[in-house]
Amino acid sequence: MPKPSLARQGFTLPASEITPPQVYAQRRQLLKLAGAGTALTTLSSLGLQAQAQGAAPATNRLIGARSAVPGAIAMDKPTKVEDATRYNNFYEFGTDKADPAQHAHTLKTRPWSVMVDGEVAKPGRWGLDDLLKLAPMEERIYRLRCVEGWSMVIPWVGYSLAELIKRVEPNSRAKFVEFTTLADKAQMPGLRSGVLDWPYVEGLRIDEAMHPLTLLAFGMYGELLPKQNGAPLRLVVPWKYGFKSAKSLVRIRFVEKQPVSSWTQAAAQEYGFYSNVNPRVDHPRWSQASERRIGEDGLFARKRPTLMFNGYEAQVGQLYAGMDLKRFF
Ligand code: MTE
Repeated sequence: MPKPSLARQGFTLPASEITPPQVYAQRRQLLKLAGAGTALTTLSSLGLQAQAQGAAPATNRLIGARSAVPGAIAMDKPTKVEDATRYNNFYEFGTDKADPAQHAHTLKTRPWSVMVDGEVAKPGRWGLDDLLKLAPMEERIYRLRCVEGWSMVIPWVGYSLAELIKRVEPNSRAKFVEFTTLADKAQMPGLRSGVLDWPYVEGLRIDEAMHPLTLLAFGMYGELLPKQNGAPLRLVVPWKYGFKSAKSLVRIRFVEKQPVSSWTQAAAQEYGFYSNVNPRVDHPRWSQASERRIGEDGLFARKRPTLMFNGYEAQVGQLYAGMDLKRFF
């Protein structure tokens, strides 16, 4: 049932009040390294191979080789790491932009595992270290555009979700993929609020999930994901509004019927299943024609025009050929 209160509370902006918490030292340096494409990911260099499933890694470093996937490296200037880690949506830790950075320290990211099940030949539970070793880590620089009207450019580290999907062998009934994220009251103070029905659930069509740009991310800015950004692993779907990029994944389920995402369930008229970035389809309460790039929000900063599919039309437009994108918003 859509919650009328949510439509009002929904996504709200205020740009300014960001409380600076942790400072991520040396990130710039790492970013330069990763950006130069010099460092290949070697899990041994991370000390991960020797890790027991539950133990914390010896270092936070996570470097990926520059991705060769078409469209994976946006030419835009990356957002400052301080902004990307202090201006977040992670409602499990509160609805204010500054809440996740302040409260997500209670998230326990090890031991961690992800259940992969449903319409697949090889269902099973994947430990975090096995997922970290599954495929070579890549750096991808993606634009992330929030439905609220702001955007960022983030250098992620991870690999195509397709790598995992191939391993579990979906069957012919696997038409959609449902993603469920952690919901633990002991770790997540935001669960006390009824703003969403927990756990947070999102979904993709199987061909969207298989698209090489759909990223299973474990890191950003050359390090393991900060908790407020969805540690220890999250989805990043760059051509869709940010809420499709579910954080802190615990289950990936292959299903025949289109999943009902948490946002659709809360306000179906505002948040459709597809949620492709589309400047021609307004949110019922505001225009989606332009966006504010975080970090460019000075007094005279201009808004940027929002691009169809967030600028990834050449790569993903074909997935929606023949669909009425006003109807399937
Ligand atoms: N995942 C969970 N589990 N909970 C959330 O509240 N918010 C979404 C998405 N994934 C959210 C989530 C929204 S609305 C956005 S815009 C992005 O995460 C924000 O990601 P970022 O904070 O890393 O920029």
